[in-house]
Amino acid sequence: MVKTCILPVAGLGSRFLPATKSIPKEMLIVVDKPLIQYAVEEAKAAGVERFIFVTSQGKSAIEDHFDRLQLLEQTLANREKYDLLDKIVSNSLEPSQAVYVRQPAPLGLGHAILCARHLIEEESFAVILADDLILSKTPCLKQMTDAYNAEDGNMVATMVVEPDHVSRYGILTIQDENGRKIRASNVVEKPAIDKAPSRSAVIGRYILKHEILDTLSNQPAGAGSEIQLTDAIQRMLPNTPLTGYTYEGERFDCGTKRGWLEANIAFACQDENVYAHLVPMLKRYVDNYNPR
Ligand code: UTP
Repeated sequence: MVKTCILPVAGLGSRFLPATKSIPKEMLIVVDKPLIQYAVEEAKAAGVERFIFVTSQGKSAIEDHFDRLQLLEQTLANREKYDLLDKIVSNSLEPSQAVYVRQPAPLGLGHAILCARHLIEEESFAVILADDLILSKTPCLKQMTDAYNAEDGNMVATMVVEPDHVSRYGILTIQDENGRKIRASNVVEKPAIDKAPSRSAVIGRYILKHEILDTLSNQPAGAGSEIQLTDAIQRMLPNTPLTGYTYEGERFDCGTKRGWLEANIAFACQDENVYAHLVPMLKRYVDNYNPR
């Protein structure tokens, strides 16, 4: 049902400077893969066939990452490094699968999605924010596409956050809950702690009705003077319902140093060989903690 995924990668990544000065945030490595590759793999697992990257100046490493590199492939084949060859071939995208479109200035997530408007034909499409990395048994977007049906309207992934974190997220007003699905009567972007209607925060996975593109086309700037996706979702209510999906898994905000470090540890612990080394390695540094 959901065959297209938009991957907005045109943000400034200012919270992770200077690392992101010349390297796109979405190319930061977690253990052995860039964030954007985790996102594409997650989308593929949910049945997505077409990937629209909304990029900006200085993000060409993302396009290069998904290209076939004939010289490298030939060299690996000549050296009989077939495992590595398989890895780099399977992570590339065919020209028919990948589209790159530019966002001329970082005017917000809503604006980034609007930049792909002319490429969206389907009834509903997905959006993944690659810096929200999720470790789960079933990939998060697959959980959502399995649960999604047309009456859900716009669907967002949601998680409960600490009270002092609500002002960083879009927050749902909960109407009712049915299993993992929350029917939301409203969503507010970055509310003050005393104005937050709940602690259910929107995180970087969406299944959106294509009508949102019309709504975004006349969307004024909101919080942070950016064109906010959550404002458009809010304006579509109540005609287009809003469903929060409480996914199974753990999410890491890899747009921050702390979240990225934690993701590296969590993903490294998934590999039993690495895990065996990681615990003594961490213990050595923790035991010898010596602030400079
Ligand atoms: P963030 O809110 O993390 O913003 O965007 P950012 O600019 O990347 O990072 P900071 O806040 O400066 O550290 C969430 C996602 O939306 C994309 C980003 O690339 C990221 O994947 N985005 C954001 C755009 O594509 N365009 C924008 O104008 C804003």
